[in-house]
Amino acid sequence: MEFSKIIEQDKPGKDELVRMLEASGEERTLLFEQAVKTREQFIGKKVHFRGLIEFSNICSKDCYYCGIRKGNRKVKRYELSDEQIIEAAAFAHKQNYGSVVIQGGEIASPAFTARIEHLLNEIKRLSDGKLGITLSLGEQTGETYLRWKEAGAHRYLLRIESSNQELYGKIHPAGHTHDFKARLGCLHTLQDLGYQTGTGMMIGLPFQTTGHLAEDLLFIQELDVDMVGMGPYIEHPDTPLYRYRGELLPIKERFDLSLNMIAVLRILMKDINIAAATALQAIDPMGREKAIRVGANIIMPNITPGLYRNDYSLYENKPCTDEEPEECLGCLDARIQMADSMIGYGEWGDSKHYQQRIRRQNNSTG
Ligand code: 5AD
Ligand code: FES
Repeated sequence: MEFSKIIEQDKPGKDELVRMLEASGEERTLLFEQAVKTREQFIGKKVHFRGLIEFSNICSKDCYYCGIRKGNRKVKRYELSDEQIIEAAAFAHKQNYGSVVIQGGEIASPAFTARIEHLLNEIKRLSDGKLGITLSLGEQTGETYLRWKEAGAHRYLLRIESSNQELYGKIHPAGHTHDFKARLGCLHTLQDLGYQTGTGMMIGLPFQTTGHLAEDLLFIQELDVDMVGMGPYIEHPDTPLYRYRGELLPIKERFDLSLNMIAVLRILMKDINIAAATALQAIDPMGREKAIRVGANIIMPNITPGLYRNDYSLYENKPCTDEEPEECLGCLDARIQMADSMIGYGEWGDSKHYQQRIRRQNNSTG
């Protein structure tokens, strides 16, 4: 089939997705044009912010790719205090960001559940309920997810990392603590509880093929999520996967493949929120803006107090780790305009996909 027809298909199959992912030259231009057209039609020109608070790098997991894995003795561990988290959220509110994301290493305990619940209540209070809150705190029990939802969180991010169970097994330790099915179960629970649910994967992992990535896209479609965050895998020297660095795609190709993934996903899932991953910016200073140009519509400016940013090193070269949140502001506004978009200040910027889904549910129940 001609490439120009493939990109217009409603339900492309795995082979067609692979062709789109591997597009280069003129075909790539066509792919990007189609993605931009789709974004303009279903989302518009607005980009929404989520102020990212990396609240702790203490993690009970040992993922083979991740710089803050439990087994990495070289990391200086930190945890923000309640006051620091609340202050960061107040900063986001003052700047009219609309939403914050609270992200951290994975910890599961009754005390942790209670602490997050308390923080959610406080953030809701300080913003008069106006600040949207996304959580990204890993795998938890259904009861914990429910308590956090009732305390005011309405979105949850949990990347599946790879939807291929075999590949998942290669990048995580064996055993029940890193179980693919448990992770998938968490995503279903989040959806059942009514969270706007986000997932995603890393692009350019060792052992990963474009076939795997095509499967990832079909997985996202099948799961029918509202949001996706996905970005290039970047090797970290203090992790087990580092030994495969010689077998990876060159970094520039990983970056380009990530942009193709975003464009194809936009064509496939027209009205979901797609984040321009920070990892893109670690490779190219204009990486996130390039993602916006090919279909992404969410940016997560880092608002973690500057002091701690260096310690939240999931991968090498994490950008802007030396800056204070205030310094990022003017910079971002200008960048978004360059990407022919504008910022939706003070808005939640819920995914249109979610809004449609809720409308359909309401219609069928009443
Ligand atoms: N390169 C790129 N992304 C990474 N993440 C963790 N380690 C790396 C890495 N080395 C991503 C994972 C995780 C998110 C918080 O960061 O996808 O879900
Ligand atoms: Fe815990 Fe990566 S191993 S966040």
